[in-house]
Amino acid sequence: MSDKRKVIIDCDTGVDDALAILLCLKNLDVVGITTVGGNVGLENTQRNTRYVTEVAGRTDVPVFAGYARPLLVPLQDASYVHGAGGLGNIQVPEPQKPLEKQHAVDFLIETFMTRDDVSLITLGPLTNIAHALLKEPRLVHRIPEILTMGGSTTWGNATPAAEFNIFVDPEAAKLVFESGIPIRMVGLNATRQQRASLEVYEQIKAMDSPAAQLAAKLFLDREGKPGRNSFCDACAVMWWIDSQVICKSAMMHVVVETQGEFTRGMTLCDGRGFQANRREVDMEHEKLYEPLPKGLEPNVEVALELDQARFTQVLLDTMRRYSEG
Ligand code: RIB
Ligand code: CA
Repeated sequence: MSDKRKVIIDCDTGVDDALAILLCLKNLDVVGITTVGGNVGLENTQRNTRYVTEVAGRTDVPVFAGYARPLLVPLQDASYVHGAGGLGNIQVPEPQKPLEKQHAVDFLIETFMTRDDVSLITLGPLTNIAHALLKEPRLVHRIPEILTMGGSTTWGNATPAAEFNIFVDPEAAKLVFESGIPIRMVGLNATRQQRASLEVYEQIKAMDSPAAQLAAKLFLDREGKPGRNSFCDACAVMWWIDSQVICKSAMMHVVVETQGEFTRGMTLCDGRGFQANRREVDMEHEKLYEPLPKGLEPNVEVALELDQARFTQVLLDTMRRYSEG
């Protein structure tokens, strides 16, 4: 009986999703992986996901295909970052492992309606999750918690305001963030504190498992891409693999902007409750009015700081364990 946390991963397997999946398959009890159009088209994200489970020696983990496009708008992918196929320059063969016939959304609904011991990790646009909530509204009381890579307390990447996963499907994100399901959000403000390095690449490259060799290729893809050399999704999953990797977080009110001419896809995080109450540390240096605004009712636990050294330690330890079988 595994004492590892049981999870479903919903992802749009690109480079950082792939590393995150390798981390989860060794450290968590992954009961299934659902895929969505995002970084690249669904045909590629589902194939990449099956490929990663094969490389990890975990073809027992079922992989499902979900929606190819967002709720309302056409898919704007990130092939300019992840390459046309989604895994950079890695040539992904057609995996032997078959795709499940069941639709991802039906798997999500069936699992959460029948089990109490599974949590949800999302690493891509929230399209599948939104469809599941629309199809089965009772899920809002059945999904214990969602750990999501998405958003930012500061600026975005897809636009100055919006992080990619939210930007691709803001309506889906709004629906999920307003659902009342407990959410942990790992945004760009935290993931930018993690940097891929050649030193870590060299250590992983020296390991002899197929998983480590894939991880090394993923590192190489990130190398030399300033601003794109962090593994956002790997940072997110670390919160449930080793909680000390996310070394500071705060409960905040977070809303998703869907209408803004310049801010569509922004996660507006209300930090007013955290405003300094001493002039010398208040970054606005404005006259503080009392009482301080307490901000709106928090609905999301937001990651604020990431321990890069601990991230690297957990990553290297996991990759070593792939060599041990
Ligand atoms: O903004 C980073 C996120 O968008 C990551 O999940 C990456 O894989 C892309 O989906
Ligand atoms: Ca992703």
